Amino acid sequence: MDAFLIRGGRRLDGEYRVQNAKNAALPIMAASILTEEKTLLKGCPALSDIRNMGEILKTLGCRVHMDGGDLTIDPQGLSSYEMPDGLAKKLRSSIFMLGPILARFHKATVTFPGGCEIGLRPIDLHLKGLKQLNVSIRNEGGVICCDGHHMQPGNVHFDYPSVGATENIMMAAVLLKGVTTIHNAAREPEIVDLQNFLNRMGAKIAGAGTDTIQIQGVYRLHGVEYTPMADRIVAGTLMAAAAVTSGHIRLTNVPVQDMVAIMAKLEEMGCLITRKQEEIILRAPDRLRAFSQLQTQPHPGFPTDMQAQMMAIATLAKETSVVVENVFENRFAHAGDLNRMGARIILNGRTAVIHGVEGLNGLSVTARDLRGGAALAIAGLAARGETLVEKAEYIDRGYDRLEDALCSLGGDVRRIILP
Ligand code: UD1
Repeated sequence: MDAFLIRGGRRLDGEYRVQNAKNAALPIMAASILTEEKTLLKGCPALSDIRNMGEILKTLGCRVHMDGGDLTIDPQGLSSYEMPDGLAKKLRSSIFMLGPILARFHKATVTFPGGCEIGLRPIDLHLKGLKQLNVSIRNEGGVICCDGHHMQPGNVHFDYPSVGATENIMMAAVLLKGVTTIHNAAREPEIVDLQNFLNRMGAKIAGAGTDTIQIQGVYRLHGVEYTPMADRIVAGTLMAAAAVTSGHIRLTNVPVQDMVAIMAKLEEMGCLITRKQEEIILRAPDRLRAFSQLQTQPHPGFPTDMQAQMMAIATLAKETSVVVENVFENRFAHAGDLNRMGARIILNGRTAVIHGVEGLNGLSVTARDLRGGAALAIAGLAARGETLVEKAEYIDRGYDRLEDALCSLGGDVRRIILP
């Protein structure tokens, strides 16, 4: 079991290049089976979620090779339409395979996917979307059997703009003859990145980044070399860490245009942010101000994946902040440990009221999900004494050695192996 040992009280100061986005790379990895040719993904972050997705591709018959940040996927040997049960349970993003497998085999079987315990995370929207493409779906004792022999392009309307379901339908429809239109699509930047990747492979997709996406089916796709977009959540996490330590940092490889909501909140708290094309400089005040209200929403609203980190820094702000989590129903698991460190957070359903305190005390805490774990590490940086964040494996799902990023910015963070 890995843990982070953090000695708090050091001001972050320095420069760091942000990794590329896991949430862009994962659907792109799934999309790589839409061709029989090799795909080379450059600058892939070394994360357990990426490795698990690679294992899923291997089980389906692909050859997958990671060399530094270069990930090669050769789908020539693709032979199975059955998602491996154990791996699918480890990784929520395994559900992305459904669309591409259907596109290639016209049939697919999957079990319900796993992932971080941040809510129920059902897949009904994915399945409803596929049904609108005329896929017939049966649930046989927890195994979902999809028959896509009569798949047709057409209109797909989502009751809610799910990121994963939007991406799944884009991939399911890309090889269907005719036009598919997704209505009420999610607008996240990673969906634009998937569109860019697919179009580079020869697809004809337009509209990603808006709520209507049009997919003009093509006969075949070809292999490409592609670099997934930079990670807006990792950039935001490091900015939050700098903000709460009165830091002054420069980040490069930042998707600045996609981070308006995050930057606006940090500015509301008193940070000065200078933006350049793919770079930001953040200068934090001696003490942060509270924000009046932070509501998580689908993009371009405030991202749920930054909620925990913002709550961590609000614990030390002047006055009271309010957070409303609208996207996932169970995403306050970090609040208990923050309170044990001395924070004053009151939870009521999806709302958290955070009364700012003068200081936090380091102690032993436990990551319970990816972003909540990062939030505890941030709190540790600002706390008095030492903080031990156990179950760092959760953090490793989305951050390529967060301890190295924080150390190179002047933090004192060590990874230790617990018995
Ligand atoms: C993606 C991101 C995740 C982020 C989330 C919201 C990836 C790999 N993951 O997850 O980091 O937190 O977007 O920005 O890109 N829902 C249903 N039925 C469904 C699908 C979703 O009810 O079939 C619900 C979910 O339980 C959740 C909400 O819709 O409450 C949003 O989920 P969704 O947008 O699908 O998120 P993911 O694609 O799982």
